[in-house]
Amino acid sequence: QAGQLIDRFGRKIDYLRISITDRCDFRCVYCMAEDMTFLPRAQILTLEEIETIARAFTELGVKKIRITGGEPLVRKGALDLLENLGKLQGLKELVITTNGAQLESMAPALKQAGVKRINISLDSLDPAKFKAITRVGNLRAVLNGIAAAKAQGFERIKLNTVVLKGSNHEEVCELAQFAVDSEIDISFIEEMPLGVVDHHDRALVYYSSDRIKKDLETRFMLLATPEKTGGPSHYFRIAGTDTRVGFISPHSHNFCGACNRVRLTAEGRLLLCLGNEHSVDLKKVVRTQPGDIDALKRALIDAMRIKPLRHEFNMQERPVILRYMNMTGG
Ligand code: GTP
Ligand code: 5AD
Ligand code: SF4
Repeated sequence: QAGQLIDRFGRKIDYLRISITDRCDFRCVYCMAEDMTFLPRAQILTLEEIETIARAFTELGVKKIRITGGEPLVRKGALDLLENLGKLQGLKELVITTNGAQLESMAPALKQAGVKRINISLDSLDPAKFKAITRVGNLRAVLNGIAAAKAQGFERIKLNTVVLKGSNHEEVCELAQFAVDSEIDISFIEEMPLGVVDHHDRALVYYSSDRIKKDLETRFMLLATPEKTGGPSHYFRIAGTDTRVGFISPHSHNFCGACNRVRLTAEGRLLLCLGNEHSVDLKKVVRTQPGDIDALKRALIDAMRIKPLRHEFNMQERPVILRYMNMTGG
């Protein structure tokens, strides 16, 4: 199939995740070191460059774009970018992942820009624990942000909870109940080893999706759903509610066989897999051949040959992947 992105394992790529900034107003312990140096301006893609690359992708069959970071809403011009991406021909879904801290003021503008669904990180409902995990985050702002997003009536809102033993693992039922009460979805995530975060020993804080599921089943009935989203999440529905619970289990249940995605980093590297270093420098292509969309498309089709079969996450050793999550966009 000419004009489509298909890798050598036959996986069709129709989903692009774009990190529009490596900066963030939080410092979550699993994502960053406490003291981070961020990329200088000249090194990150301009909004125009991001749009051009996104256009090349949609012309090759990409149907869904997720904007991430860092925290995407701290980038100046993020709303204009969203609005422009929303107009791309062939794009069916424009979605965003955020820490929620700015949503209270920005939710209406996001809705207006054409964003369909929002994923919001929420690791704890306890202010002290929330502070311990995010280092600088303010729980109240995020809860207000969630409420503001609800009020805008987005098609779907999903919470993301990275579960760490000894830190928030005892809260999974409470978080699920919060999702039920708010009539939104929630995903529980096993921590992925990216970058040297040195806050905790990843093997010691590991809490598997199977244990989370068991904990949830003491309080809720989880019904299997036939939904195959092509994403890493394995979904259940909480009986008697509209809430879906997802499990993202890089360690305990590999999901790479159904992979449909690639990532664009803030500095313009096309990463073929979150848990590998295989990449192509798209910034070089847009900067040496500006305006040449065909050159970009050729680079994208070529890149499919180096998409690896699966990630190489391994929590026993020092991380193999030295890049931090904030550059990569989750
Ligand atoms: P969908 O777009 O609906 O599939 O949402 P999502 O849950 O994949 O996206 P979100 O940005 O909310 O990320 C939730 C978690 O899933 C984060 O920890 C991501 O790092 C992780 N994740 C998303 N895609 C992938 C992937 O392809 N591989 C791995 N290993 N993790 C992923
Ligand atoms: N492992 C798993 N998930 C992570 N996230 C950030 N860092 C990690 C990590 N090391 C999650 C955030 C956010 C999503 C984009 O990625 O919680 O919800
Ligand atoms: Fe795809 Fe890599 Fe994620 Fe696996 S870890 S689902 S191969 S991006």
